[in-house]
Amino acid sequence: MEQNRYWWKECVFYQIYPRSFQDSNGDGMGDLRGIINRIDYLVELGVGAIWLGPVCSSPNDDMGYDISDYQSIMEQFGTMEDWEELRDKLHENGIRILVDLVVNHTSDEHPWFLEARSSKDNPKHDYYIWRPGKDGKEPNNWASFFTPSAWQYNKETDEYYLHLFSIKQPDLNWHNPAVRKEVYDMMAWWLDKGADGFRMDVINLLCKTPGLPDGGGKTDMNGYVFPTEHICDIDPIHEYLREMAKAVYADKDIFTVGECISLTTEEGRKYTARKDRELDAVFSFSHIDMDGQPEGKWYYRPWKLPELKGRLTEWQHGIGRGWLGLFWSNQDQPRALSRFGTTGVYRERCAKMLAVVLHNLRGTPFIYQGEEIGMVNVPWTSTHQLRDVESLNFAANCRRTGAGEEFMWDALRRKARDNARTPMPWNDGPNGGFTTGTPWIMLNPDYPQINVEKARRDPDSVFHFYRRLVAMRKENLIMCYGGYRLLWPDDPEVFAYTRELEGEKWLIAANFSDSACGREWPREAGKPQALILSNVDSAAAPTEDILHLEPYEAVIIRCQ
Ligand code: GLC
Repeated sequence: MEQNRYWWKECVFYQIYPRSFQDSNGDGMGDLRGIINRIDYLVELGVGAIWLGPVCSSPNDDMGYDISDYQSIMEQFGTMEDWEELRDKLHENGIRILVDLVVNHTSDEHPWFLEARSSKDNPKHDYYIWRPGKDGKEPNNWASFFTPSAWQYNKETDEYYLHLFSIKQPDLNWHNPAVRKEVYDMMAWWLDKGADGFRMDVINLLCKTPGLPDGGGKTDMNGYVFPTEHICDIDPIHEYLREMAKAVYADKDIFTVGECISLTTEEGRKYTARKDRELDAVFSFSHIDMDGQPEGKWYYRPWKLPELKGRLTEWQHGIGRGWLGLFWSNQDQPRALSRFGTTGVYRERCAKMLAVVLHNLRGTPFIYQGEEIGMVNVPWTSTHQLRDVESLNFAANCRRTGAGEEFMWDALRRKARDNARTPMPWNDGPNGGFTTGTPWIMLNPDYPQINVEKARRDPDSVFHFYRRLVAMRKENLIMCYGGYRLLWPDDPEVFAYTRELEGEKWLIAANFSDSACGREWPREAGKPQALILSNVDSAAAPTEDILHLEPYEAVIIRCQ
């Protein structure tokens, strides 16, 4: 085997968005006890680990990604005892747990920031990033992810503070050694508590170009520029991550995966080089960013299959000896089926197809809650239905600048993060069995048709297909460690590739179109031996002449 073996390469992860998974006390919001009550579901699915979204104390301006205390549990989600019980019950079932580490910023209600903003002389002032205004305006032209400007005025010190996300998420000053030490101590505390690793929120944004110069790209509708070149992978980010590893986890059998914005393969390789153990894996957003324009995700850009294949393949090779977290969706993205597939009559078949394609790439697959039952986007009709700060600010901006309702609704229905945040529909009863109270955000109105109970009952469901794929990974090291080779890069309908490990060879082929198609058998794959898996009942035994694929069919064929 070309690589060392690691547990985190050989299992499938499941991402839980705690607020929307399962409510246990009728307040309309998911909580830790709700997750505890659903452990059976995770066991049935067969996953080896969960990434638990942020559950620390937070005023919830950005739904928990604005943390006001890193060492206590958000009241609405339960108590530290609940977290410990969840950890124990997961561990008893052989499931590991990742903590969501959010340390590019804190909440503006974090005690550090309350002190920092009170006076320039406060010892905590330098925990954050401050600049005087320029000609009575913001210090530079940076746009934030969620608001027009990335700067907010602070009266007490007559300065602006930097916030790459919402006004309530001030960026920490990572150049201050005291900040780094606080973070490392906190991380060590979570590992002592029995966490099995971290998903690291926007970890490649920790450092910014010294002097914070203006961004050079295109201005957005508010006249600001998104400063990618000044915030992604800036020196000395690698040094800090090595320092973090050394201080917290370099010698531990835990797993770290970093969310990395606008990442290049070169940087991805550096983060995941085993030598210094900066990160074990990265999430690249190359395939996700494909349908956005340079001005940002809201500006839709149509895409074609060869581009998707190209982007995924660039990373399959580009990560080199490093490692990838594989995903179609998460709490920030639209539902995978609505974005990469179809929501019509072939919805279920297509959901299985996307799963086959992802789970056979090289890397560790992450299932985002609801994907395993084939959930789709929501047909939003009013901004009152939305809850996400990003969506609401975008809608307000569109209305303020006259961008047009049509543009706004098309963008929200396609891309709003709320699409992925509607509650898990457990059954077709009131509120889908998610809560006995009023859900914090509406359920997808299709929950009577798309819900867990229905999926569990139907042996042909997306859910049971996912179970098979998850189980296959445990028995087939080729899925974890096999070499990858793309076939037919320009084919507009079929995504086909091979995996190969120690003499074993698989062909994976998926038809991304709604009509059947045939292709001459690819000689590079060798000779077909047996059909290992198809998402179509009537799939025929493979022959050496023609590879036939029904609409949205995906096959795995053993070759020789
Ligand atoms: C990450 C999170 C997202 C959050 C942002 C700021 O992108 O996934 O949900 O809003 O960071 O913390």
